[in-house]
This record gives sequence, C-alpha cells and structure tokens, in this order.
Amino acid sequence: MRITQVLTHCALLGTLLVAPWVQSQAQEDIKIGFIVKKPEQAWFINEQRAASEMGNKLGFEVVRLGGEDGQAVLSAIDNLYAQNAQGFVICPPDVRLGPAIMHRARQYDMKVITVDDQFVTADGQPIEDVPHLGMSGTKIGQQVGEAIVVEMKTRGWDPKEVAALRISNNELPTAVERTDGATQSLLAAGFPEDHIFDAPQQNTDTSSAFSAASPVLAQHSDYKHWVIYALNEESVLGGVRATEQYGLDAQDVIGVGINGSGAAFAEFSREKPTGFFGTVAVSSTMHGRQTAENLYYWITEGKVPKANTETAGTLMTRDNWQAVRKALGL
Ligand code: GLA
Repeated sequence: MRITQVLTHCALLGTLLVAPWVQSQAQEDIKIGFIVKKPEQAWFINEQRAASEMGNKLGFEVVRLGGEDGQAVLSAIDNLYAQNAQGFVICPPDVRLGPAIMHRARQYDMKVITVDDQFVTADGQPIEDVPHLGMSGTKIGQQVGEAIVVEMKTRGWDPKEVAALRISNNELPTAVERTDGATQSLLAAGFPEDHIFDAPQQNTDTSSAFSAASPVLAQHSDYKHWVIYALNEESVLGGVRATEQYGLDAQDVIGVGINGSGAAFAEFSREKPTGFFGTVAVSSTMHGRQTAENLYYWITEGKVPKANTETAGTLMTRDNWQAVRKALGL
C-alpha cells in the first residue's frame, strides 16, 4: 500500500473512531512550515516573522525553516512531516525544484503555497496549480525605471554620458520580469539601448551582485554617470558598493532597488547619501501574513487560495522611507 493510501486510511479511521471533543482539539492543532531560500535576508526575516504573527492571531503554529538548496528543502519537508505539519509556504532556492518539491509534498499529503518565486516545470513554464503570491514583476520593474528617469532629469544628466548597469538573473522568471520592466521604462524615456550593460549574477544577494558588477564598470570606464537596477535592493547595493570601490562619487550613481527591507533602511540611515537612491517597497509583512492565512483556511476549511496574487509597490527614498515603512507595516 502506498504511503498516501495508508495516510488516507488512518485519517478515515480517525474520523470514525475519535470522540468529538478530540476532533475539535485536533482541529486546533494546525501547524504549517514557512521555508525560505535566504533566511538571513531582511526581506525573508520579516516575511517569516509576519507569518508567525498571523499564526498567533488565528491560533496555529508556524515552523520557520531555511531551504538554501534542494537538499535542505527536502529535509525541511521531512522535518515538517515528522512534526505533523499539514502544509507549508515556500520561497524555493531554485524555481526548477518545483516538481521535486511537489512530489515530496504529495507523498505526505501536504498543501503547498509558493511565495515570491513561483515554481516552474522542466521546460520553464509556471506551475499554475500551486497557488502563488508574489510581486507584479513587470509593473514594479517599470516603477524602478521611472524613478531612475525622473532622478536623472532632476540631476540634469546628459543621457550621452550615462550608462546603465543591469544586474541580471536569467534563471529566475520574477527577476527577468523586474529587470525587463525597468529596461522598458528607460527605453520609453529615450535612454540609449547600447548604453545598457548586463552584469549576470549567480545568486540574488549583495556579494554575487558586487562580483558581477565590478568587471562591467571597469570595461566601460568612458561613462561619467551610472544608473543601477536589479531584481532586489540587496543586488543593487552590491552594484553601488562596486561603484564606490571603483571610485565613482555618490552624486554620479542612481541605484534603485526593490523590496524595502532592513537592507534599504540601513542605507537610508547613513549620515551621507550614497548611490543607492531609492527602492520600490513591497510589503513583506503582507506577503508573510497573507500566505500563512491562506494556507490555514485551505487546511481548516478547504478554501483553495487564488491561483496567482500579484502585489504592488511604492517608491521609497531617503526622504520618505520612514513614512512608507509605516504605511506598509514594515
Ligand atoms: C525574490 C528576491 C527577494 C525578494 C522577493 C520578493 O525572491 O530574491 O529578494 O525580492 O523576490 O518577492
């Protein structure tokens, strides 16, 4: 007999044999996992914290786990099963792990919701039967591009003297959407296409962006000013740090990120402005809360979450960051 059948039989027997008061007790024992690819990043710390808060509010337990590669994710799922969790929310370390993760989850009869990065099939198509909540990559990317264009005008830069550093991550669809969105806005405003240079990063963090950016700056030393964009603010910060190391002045750099997490707050709190001009903030609090809540009602009431929820963002700069932070509950 397959494990899923054994589990179904046990569940059926349980329903028939268990006294009503025990059943209502069981109903209260809801436990979910919240697995993230980068547990040390401010975005994910806040997202997991918000999920736990929702658990406290509605009366379920959230087990917060890191899953930095495929092996770690599968052990996290085994660990959750051993703790009788009924499902998990996950931001996977590699979206192509989707089929393997779903296979394991189905063996354990667990419900799954993806957050931030959506699973894809072997040929790169989104796996649409796993409910997903993430940012609207294209729109938020466009906001990044628009913010860059406005700030270039404010500084009175001559487009001939400006280059763009596009820190790219082509393995991750949400990253492609975001950087493509930003590129679209730049081109629509007349930014010269041949001034846009790709710096492909191996990961989605500051150090991989720094390594990707440094050689690109060195190869194009003839530009006076640089604009920088990427899938998130951690990566834009890597690009900004590379411009500093290269010797560019903060006034000659406009970096605009995405997230609006502790990494950006720390940067805006520095005494002097840096090349990190702003970031499009999205509520990681809402991402964490909403996905945890959706999973809870799916488990307890059979309410299947929406297939795809897209969230929006607000530009946050050194001038308004505290107000935006408050408004988004960050
Ligand atoms: C991706 C990025 C994170 C964050 C989330 C938000 O996972 O790597 O930094 O931007 O998306 O959706």
